[in-house]
Amino acid sequence: PPISDMIDINDMQFAAKNTLSGKNYAYYRTAALDEVTYQANLFIWEKIRLNGFSFVDVSDINLNTSILGYNFSAPFFIAPAAKAGKASAGAETNLAKAAGAAGILYVPSISSSENTSTIGAAAVDGQVMFHQEYIWSNKTKLQDELDEIEAAGFKAIFLTVDNTGVNGIRDRSMRFTSGSNSDHSATFTIEALNQLRNMTSLPIVPKGVKTAHDVKLCADLGFPAVYISNHGGRVVDMAPTAVEVLLDVHKQYPEVFDQIEIYADGGVRRATHVLTLLALGARAVGLGRPFMFANVYGEEGVTKAIDILTLELTTTMALMGQPDIAGYRGNTTFINTRQVE
Ligand code: FNR
Repeated sequence: PPISDMIDINDMQFAAKNTLSGKNYAYYRTAALDEVTYQANLFIWEKIRLNGFSFVDVSDINLNTSILGYNFSAPFFIAPAAKAGKASAGAETNLAKAAGAAGILYVPSISSSENTSTIGAAAVDGQVMFHQEYIWSNKTKLQDELDEIEAAGFKAIFLTVDNTGVNGIRDRSMRFTSGSNSDHSATFTIEALNQLRNMTSLPIVPKGVKTAHDVKLCADLGFPAVYISNHGGRVVDMAPTAVEVLLDVHKQYPEVFDQIEIYADGGVRRATHVLTLLALGARAVGLGRPFMFANVYGEEGVTKAIDILTLELTTTMALMGQPDIAGYRGNTTFINTRQVE
């Protein structure tokens, strides 16, 4: 379909399904086991109601968000997803350029199609990008990559801690390729996490935390931020959604919201989903598959996806009577979660 037909984020998935080979589409779309978590990520929003307020001046909408102290134009970002190149040529460069032009954060995966220095070099003037890393069992490889990330100008590391030792079992991809052996460390304990902090001068943000317990642990260990994610349902099936984890944090460790920045992702396809996670205390919200799918149209498609989300955000904020994104953040008066609890 022509790009002008793209009205919402789900249209991008339709376009990708109709453009990519079955194998490449399955790689992006797949999730673990019965895909209970994948589906829960998409449908948890049905249990949420957003409270909007009248009698407010909403003539000037402000989406500006600081993430780890860097300023961005919106509270959503491009989450790390491996092998963007299955969707288009120069795929990570497209993502970096579109993010840079729009002023949003892009976090390339360490398993990208293009190499780290190429992606870093795609930054426009003043553009800040972070970079994802895995915990490889090969420590030399890990150190080399951390050094390369720093040298390429990235400002922080999202360290993915949710698939130590093994990969998730993903039926849809296994119908095209047999499962691969994991080279992820299986002995990644708190001691190993602390050691890893000495391997780079960049701030480290653990990504893939799935319980309130581990959110609190990361806060107490002194990390500047933590990233709640079930990896888009691709790792442990039946893991909770970010909404449910954030509700647990509110119940069990409410002090964490003052200790540490929290990012979240999984099934975010609309501005209303972004605003739900923000009201529950997330500072910024990632989207994985949507930007991979948008990239079938190249940089233009990624820009279009950013524009769609931005329009939805400014519209919803005006309709809900909160012109400033900082006023949404952690503001539970905007959210009615009775059906989830
Ligand atoms: C991912 N994700 C991911 N995460 C990570 O830390 N490193 C990686 O290399 C990848 N690779 C990857 C590939 C593909 C194809 C997908 C779809 C996802 C997970 C990603 O960062 C994010 O957590 C999820 O994609 C969020 O869920 P949604 O937005 O895809 O529903």
